[in-house]
Amino acid sequence: MNGAEGLPGSVAAGSGGLSSCALPAPGQVPCLLVIFGATGDLTARKLVPALFNLFLNGILPRPFAIIGCGRTKLDGDTFRALLQEKCAASTVRHPRWPEFAALLYYQALEYNDGAGYQQLADRVLELDQRLGCGGNRLFYMAVPPELYPLIGGGLTGAGLSREQGEGAGWARLVVEKPFGHDLESARALDLVLHQGFKERQIFRIDHYLAKETVQNAIMLRFANGIFEPLWNRNHIDYVGIVAAEELGVEQRAGYYEQAGVLRDMFQNHMLQLLAMIGMEPPASFGAERIRDEQVKVFRSLRPFTVEGQPEGVVLGQYVPGLLAGRSLVGYRQEAGVAPDSLTPTFAMLRLYLDNWRWQGVPFYLISGKRLAKKATRIVIQFKGAPHALYREVLGDAIGANRLTLGIFPDEEIRLSFQAKVPGHRICLRQVDLDFNYYEDYPGRVMDAYEKVLLDCIRGEQMFFWRQDGVETAWEFLAPLIDICELCSDRSGRLRPYAAGSWGPEPAAEWLRKLME
Ligand code: BG6
Repeated sequence: MNGAEGLPGSVAAGSGGLSSCALPAPGQVPCLLVIFGATGDLTARKLVPALFNLFLNGILPRPFAIIGCGRTKLDGDTFRALLQEKCAASTVRHPRWPEFAALLYYQALEYNDGAGYQQLADRVLELDQRLGCGGNRLFYMAVPPELYPLIGGGLTGAGLSREQGEGAGWARLVVEKPFGHDLESARALDLVLHQGFKERQIFRIDHYLAKETVQNAIMLRFANGIFEPLWNRNHIDYVGIVAAEELGVEQRAGYYEQAGVLRDMFQNHMLQLLAMIGMEPPASFGAERIRDEQVKVFRSLRPFTVEGQPEGVVLGQYVPGLLAGRSLVGYRQEAGVAPDSLTPTFAMLRLYLDNWRWQGVPFYLISGKRLAKKATRIVIQFKGAPHALYREVLGDAIGANRLTLGIFPDEEIRLSFQAKVPGHRICLRQVDLDFNYYEDYPGRVMDAYEKVLLDCIRGEQMFFWRQDGVETAWEFLAPLIDICELCSDRSGRLRPYAAGSWGPEPAAEWLRKLME
């Protein structure tokens, strides 16, 4: 590595070639992190291990301190002991855990108690001054979404959303999805948060945007000259976006019964993947310009026709089935699910973008629970060769080119094309040019939460939702969600599919095709 590693625009030797780094490492941005919901699951499963890894790898800024907040009355020692019980052994049994644990503090808080936020503000100020955190505060809401407005309001009331001015400390708020339950509640939440926090202070997480291979989609498109000329209706036949899950609803029926697949996967992750593929090249590589382009994609989505059966929409719900010899219960038999539930666990939407680039190109977005296997990928299916030179000899079976962006399980980019089979006969076969994202990569692979936390500390909003995007996405899906929830023929629209299958027909046929 050269001495300029991590500096803006630096070039460092990596395996397999040179790598250019556009963003600086977080460097020494001191910071105080307040986690609401500190005794909860997310904190123990994701946040603390991510912070510990950043610490271990010397990326956590210093000085740094974490104040855990929760309703349970605990002192610092009991809080650290609790984490030791709840976090994975690889974190808490590590020889450097005690060093990290010294950064952890605890403050009990009733979320509806104004005086409690004032005490928190005093604690924040005291720690900040004692440790030298430079007035930089990050507030992370690892709590159920019903509490977001309460906490947002409490922070504002105690003056914790206020920034001291250029260079004198920042205040940032981290919010996990769901951002509201529909357009109206998303707007109401936003109003409360904006009473104290400006848009640039709010970080709305979508963990798909923190996935390396998802971020790589825009690098692939805009850092290479060869794809963009083909990236349009003249050359692309269709686009497929798949997020198939093997798991069922697990222990989340309470939430999922209200959400269903459209709110859970489409209003956020699926539409973000669509935006990555559909967006125009941004004017510059900056959060606002990229998010402007994402919102333009959402605005170009052709609205659903609400009359009759909306075209190109398949909704499904899993019924008992078999997976690898194991019997699986249906959605309605899952704990906490109503026996007559009409919540969709599967959807395929055929969407169109009404703009110059994409007119007429269908985008098939498919996601569902309890499918044959977990797979997340984006498929760009090109049109066939314009003149079928080999048809007379080989028939119509010559496949067109396909670019696959694998997100899970294979993190890869694969370009499929036709090549001659060696020998004296004229035969073609499909072959693949494959790039495996992590093969030969010598560095450590960061977890999505590590990246999210670093971006928040760094103040980099590129891979977070902006409010206008959230609202446009809700606006677009609202008519379809209404059909799912309000129309008189809800049950008629919901197709059963066996757990462990590829979903209801005709979506299953598409899914199999996209999995080839
Ligand atoms: C979450 C959804 O946002 O994403 C879950 O709430 C879903 O229902 C999960 O299982 C899928 O994420 P991933 O990273 O496993 O594809």
